[in-house]
Amino acid sequence: MALKAVRGTFLDFIDDPWKHVGNEEAAVRFQLDGLLVIEDGIIVDFGPYDEVAPKHPDVEVTEIADRIILPGFIDGHIHLPQTRVLGAYGEQLLPWLQKWVFPEEHRYAERDYAEEGTKHFFDNLLASGTTTAQTFTTGNLTCNEVFFEEASRRNMRMIGGLTGIDRHVPEYFANTPEQFYEDSKTLIEKWHGQGRNLYALTPRFGFGASNELLAACQKLKTEHPDLWINTHISENPAEIHGVLALHDDCHDYLGVYEKFDLVGPKFTGGHGVWLSNDEFRRLSDKGAAVAFCPSSNLYLGSGLFRLGKALDPEHRVLLSIGTDMGGGNRFSLLNSLEDAYKVGMLQNTILDGSIVPSDQDLAESERNKLSSLRAFYLLTRGGAESLYIDDKVGTFDIGKEADFVALDWTQGPPAAPWHASLLLEKAGDVLNLQTVTDLLFGVMMVADERAVDQTWVMGELAYQKA
Ligand code: GUN
Ligand code: ZN
Repeated sequence: MALKAVRGTFLDFIDDPWKHVGNEEAAVRFQLDGLLVIEDGIIVDFGPYDEVAPKHPDVEVTEIADRIILPGFIDGHIHLPQTRVLGAYGEQLLPWLQKWVFPEEHRYAERDYAEEGTKHFFDNLLASGTTTAQTFTTGNLTCNEVFFEEASRRNMRMIGGLTGIDRHVPEYFANTPEQFYEDSKTLIEKWHGQGRNLYALTPRFGFGASNELLAACQKLKTEHPDLWINTHISENPAEIHGVLALHDDCHDYLGVYEKFDLVGPKFTGGHGVWLSNDEFRRLSDKGAAVAFCPSSNLYLGSGLFRLGKALDPEHRVLLSIGTDMGGGNRFSLLNSLEDAYKVGMLQNTILDGSIVPSDQDLAESERNKLSSLRAFYLLTRGGAESLYIDDKVGTFDIGKEADFVALDWTQGPPAAPWHASLLLEKAGDVLNLQTVTDLLFGVMMVADERAVDQTWVMGELAYQKA
């Protein structure tokens, strides 16, 4: 029995801030001086220090002073084998894949290269405060073995799986539906539910998937109904035209996945920039999720996600934030929040500016505004809910896995500490929920992953900023 505790300032979410417009604090649990008690990696007690400490008189306490401690960040959509191609110049999605991505990902068929890349991948996640990610790999078995081996070594809650593509792809990088089925089956049996690993059936995207490949996914989902499904959807106009040409019996992108019964709980479509209201409605009805990847959508010029529309109470869709690294040019979800905020502001120029806005437009434009509480909800509890892992991670509730991140609001580019000091000065140097809310907005808009001081995984310190 390994009992330990961490004392500090904690913030997590008991509800969705979008459900408390004008009173977002009602969605927050804030402990200025809190104590988190952990046994064998699991949270066994949490609350104000004065109340919790007397119940555990012998516990060894680690004090984390002058930090904001949040549940570990969850990246809903990222690509392990793109760790080295982030920042590739000059192309939109389809030529970018052909020119930069497929040749690099192919190198992960070689074990040594895959091991090196995978180590970089996990080091970067932890340095960004990311403790859970839903991850694309490649269609090669070795790459996937290396991914699950390293995830197990790090003891991180990861979701991933063999990433299949058999259309619009160079032959050297193509799967066959039969090989996709067999290799996925091997990996599922070996890794799904092993330690903290969870398996996602991963058809890469509609543009790269034949009916036979999607039918193989359907068969695997029928045989293993508890699996996750991870893919891309409606990212880029040229891609969407290509999908509808390849699957000409479907009238929209979501219809391709629906045809094979893939859309439901534990399904995530990455991007969704060009989803129609009707597609949002169908995703919502099915309990399926979208991963909003703002940095990628800007970097690859894919478009502006309709955040306020996705969150329309009429057809509210579950959402995570994804870096989509290397379509996104940063590992840090803090950068994604910065970009998400800007995407929302641009959407509001369109909504508020071009016509006399209706009441509906105004409500949508309010939902587009990414306050810090909304933003960090998406990185924690909201992301966990969208992936159906909120019974495991995303809050400091008793029974959850003790993954968390300690943010230092004075760290970042040279502008960060002085910026933060103004917020504290305005608050009379009192660290209360309002001050922390303001500091968190500073962390997402002015700082970057340099603000991540420590990352803890299952109650163990996994990263300490030098
Ligand atoms: N669609 C299919 N593959 C990819 C990929 O690797 N990145 C992005 N952003 N979109 C994709
Ligand atoms: Zn992607």
